[in-house]
Amino acid sequence: MIGVGNGSDQILDLILSNFASKQTRVLTSNPTFGFFEERCKLYSIPVTAIPFSSDMTLDVKEFLKVSKNADILYLDSPNNPTGFQFQKNDLQKLVKSFDGLIIIDEAYGEFGDFSLSDMVKSQENLVVVQTLSKSFGLAGLRLGYFIANKKFTDAFNQVLQYPYPISTLTIESAILALEQSAQMKDAVQIIKEERKRIIENLRKYDTFEVFDSKANFVLFDAHGSHKRVYDALIEQGISIRKLGKIGKHDGCLRVTIGTKEMNSKFLLAIRDLLG
Ligand SMILES: Cc1ncc(COP(=O)(O)O)c(C=O)c1O
Repeated sequence: MIGVGNGSDQILDLILSNFASKQTRVLTSNPTFGFFEERCKLYSIPVTAIPFSSDMTLDVKEFLKVSKNADILYLDSPNNPTGFQFQKNDLQKLVKSFDGLIIIDEAYGEFGDFSLSDMVKSQENLVVVQTLSKSFGLAGLRLGYFIANKKFTDAFNQVLQYPYPISTLTIESAILALEQSAQMKDAVQIIKEERKRIIENLRKYDTFEVFDSKANFVLFDAHGSHKRVYDALIEQGISIRKLGKIGKHDGCLRVTIGTKEMNSKFLLAIRDLLG
């Protein structure tokens, strides 16, 4: 019940290019994972995107309502770039109610509260995508995988990915990495603690609106000062992501949780600037 790809990007791309067309209606959130959005554009697949509310959460009722008209549901859980993750029972309810193809992208799943991978046993139309790029820190390895019903994985492995999808070097390195899963879990635990520290510290500044996150990054709206904050950090050798406008929030920045030392350096730089 597992298929692999050159990064989860390739899995998403193969699903879209083989199972969707100009007539397929995709339902997702706004924002959603940029690559997925771009791929839909490339293949001229029409997308309906439910916007995040101003507190950067999604309303499951909206999805339940609109999902009736969609053929494919794509949700990154947790979401990139907001860090939002639905409550497990809300997402389960949505998945159970949807008849089309469901792609739950758990690229950041290890940092979140739950996975839906167990549901593929009872839910034939569910594909749960995961990767070694985030929690294992191995984005350069290009190893993504997905869990789905056997008919789907067989078609994917024997037709779409045939004959040599992944290099031997990648396979052997991935096996070594998976053998170190305990180390990955320890690192994820530290990242979760550090995420809490960063959120709490950033919330001390009135200038910032800081959103909860279930991923290994934190999104915050620095309003009018986002360019100043971004540039000041760059001067100190700290590179965060300048996202700008997301919905009603016009100064969004996204900081990835680093090592304890890196995070302290980031928080000190913010204090020097605003404290
Ligand atoms: C939500 C999401 N899915 C998938 C990916 C792609 O990961 P990869 O192709 O490295 O497995 C990313 C990377 O940023 C992501 O944010």
